[in-house]
Amino acid sequence: MRVLVTGGAGFIGSHVVAALTAAGHESVVLDALLPTAHPAAALAPVLGDRVVVGDLRDRETVADALAGVDAVCHQAAMVGLGKDFADAPLYVGCNDLGTSVLLAEMAAAGVRDLVLAGSMVVYGEGRYDCPRHGSVRPGPRAEAALRAGSFEPRCPDCGAELTPGLVAEEAPADPRNVYAATKLAQEHLAGAWARATAGRAVSLRYHNVYGPGMPRDTPYAGVASFFRSALARGEAPRVYEDGRQRRDFVHVHDVAAANVVALDAVRERRPASFAAYNTGSGEPHTIGEMAAVLAGAHGGPKPVVTGEYRLGDVRHVTADSRRLREELGWRPRVAFAEGMRDFAAARLRSPGAALEADAVTPAGA
Ligand SMILES: NC(=O)c1ccc[n+]([C@@H]2O[C@H](COP(=O)([O-])OP(=O)(O)OC[C@H]3O[C@@H](n4cnc5c(N)ncnc54)[C@H](O)[C@@H]3O)[C@@H](O)[C@H]2O)c1
Ligand SMILES: [Zn+2]
Repeated sequence: MRVLVTGGAGFIGSHVVAALTAAGHESVVLDALLPTAHPAAALAPVLGDRVVVGDLRDRETVADALAGVDAVCHQAAMVGLGKDFADAPLYVGCNDLGTSVLLAEMAAAGVRDLVLAGSMVVYGEGRYDCPRHGSVRPGPRAEAALRAGSFEPRCPDCGAELTPGLVAEEAPADPRNVYAATKLAQEHLAGAWARATAGRAVSLRYHNVYGPGMPRDTPYAGVASFFRSALARGEAPRVYEDGRQRRDFVHVHDVAAANVVALDAVRERRPASFAAYNTGSGEPHTIGEMAAVLAGAHGGPKPVVTGEYRLGDVRHVTADSRRLREELGWRPRVAFAEGMRDFAAARLRSPGAALEADAVTPAGA
């Protein structure tokens, strides 16, 4: 199968390309090499049987990249929380306008199969149970509570302490920031495209992906990269809140394998269908635990729990990935301790320092 991997020069995309090659498939990479994700000067060689350097928002570029393609694996996106709200048009442009251009060109080219890099950010807070009210959905935490060091969300009905659980795909969406809103919109666009064109779409809602090639710490990166970058500078990882936030850390090799499995499976699905699959290790760990394991493996200073917080961060979000295991036969293979040990020594990517607005303007626009 010949697969177009958008964002194929990125952290996850490059591992997807490697996994496709290993499985005997051909890949075409389309990537704008955004300065938020790539070194300003030295670029690592981009894998792929064909590489198109160009922007997803440019119709001609996308049409060209789609030539002879059987399926699309859509990884390209602006990731992370960004610097501030002024980044919103960039996120919406790359993630949603870009996705709509891709889908329109897929419709024109008759490409019917899509695997989308979804995200657990669509859920907002994870699942919680109240001893009196059962499953409840706490809203965003108040700043006063966070300032007072009261980090656990409370039952919205009775204020009781809650027990965090695993989120299933049916959980209602509750995006809490611009990035999350754009990731949810990507799924809605994929669903609309599937219905309008008899397409078949699968969204893999990744949890916290980590592993070699992860970008260094920038406003566009994730927590594992913040800690890893601090250790590389000889500094202690700074753990926000009380360090007891729960996440699901899934290794990038397992995420790449999930994409290969999903690309095979999507072709067997009903036309005009959309399905979402949580893609996590199934093993929750706390942020503090992750920092400690990473610092230990790196031989660096012990993490410092700072009590700082970021408004808009969610407290716990961990996935139930049973559907992906049962329906697609996927299994995560990299255990937490082993994956973090390797990550402590792995290469990181250095994104260009500055986000130049004109560097992310579509070619020809
Ligand atoms: N890293 C995680 O933990 C995580 C978690 C959940 C979901 N995801 C999703 O996985 C996908 C890949 O993320 P990543 O961590 O590899 O990020 P990344 O920044 O390393 O890779 C994204 C790639 O997309 C490219 N890109 C962005 N906008 C583009 C555009 N308009 N045209 C062409 N190329 C463009 C960038 O140049 C980059 O190479 C994203 O869709 C992201 O939302 C990542
Ligand atoms: Zn209650």
